[in-house]
Amino acid sequence: MSRLRTSSAIVAGLLLALLAGSSMPTIAKAPLFARADPLIARGRYLVAFGGCNDCHTPGWRESDGSVPVARWMMGSSTGYRGPWGTSYPPNVRLEFQQVSETQWLFMVSTRGGHWPMVWHDLRALTTTDRRAIYRFIKSLGPAGVPAPEPLPPSVEPKTPYFDVFPHTPPN
Ligand code: HEC
Repeated sequence: MSRLRTSSAIVAGLLLALLAGSSMPTIAKAPLFARADPLIARGRYLVAFGGCNDCHTPGWRESDGSVPVARWMMGSSTGYRGPWGTSYPPNVRLEFQQVSETQWLFMVSTRGGHWPMVWHDLRALTTTDRRAIYRFIKSLGPAGVPAPEPLPPSVEPKTPYFDVFPHTPPN
């Protein structure tokens, strides 16, 4: 009974404080626990399924996709050599320290022709999914070293490389 009376008193007190308006203590607006951005988990899923690690994470294929997430997207020094020259999958962890989310969105909608990067496939994603990929990779933080610079077709690479020339079998 006395507990009921105490709680009624508290309710009445709160009502009075509410009516008084300005005398009501300010309630902090910030949440007690900052919630993780749900797009980060979505981005991890898209990067894993999107084949990004196949090129940008050394040892991905050889490990049957078991490279720990802390080593994802650090770029590769194994080149892709074809009619365009030799390109290296860049270290996106370092790249995203320099590139903003808006610049990434612009890159996805405008870049192309840089073999064998899958810019054309990324354009099938919604803007939210494009953002999710950015936020996940950015959340991993900078790590590793930059990949080698691309080479023109006339230059023989000094690193290992995959041959991506189209070969036509003789008739
Ligand atoms: C078949 C190999 C391959 C796959 C798969 C691939 N990439 Fe790439 N990526 C490259 C290469 C090579 C480059 C360098 C050529 C270029 O800049 O377009 C590149 C470039 C990039 C760049 C630009 C970096 C810079 O320095 O300008 C980003 C960002 C990137 N890739 C992210 C991704 C993401 C995210 C995925 C998964 C959806 C992905 N890549 C899948 C090979 C690949």
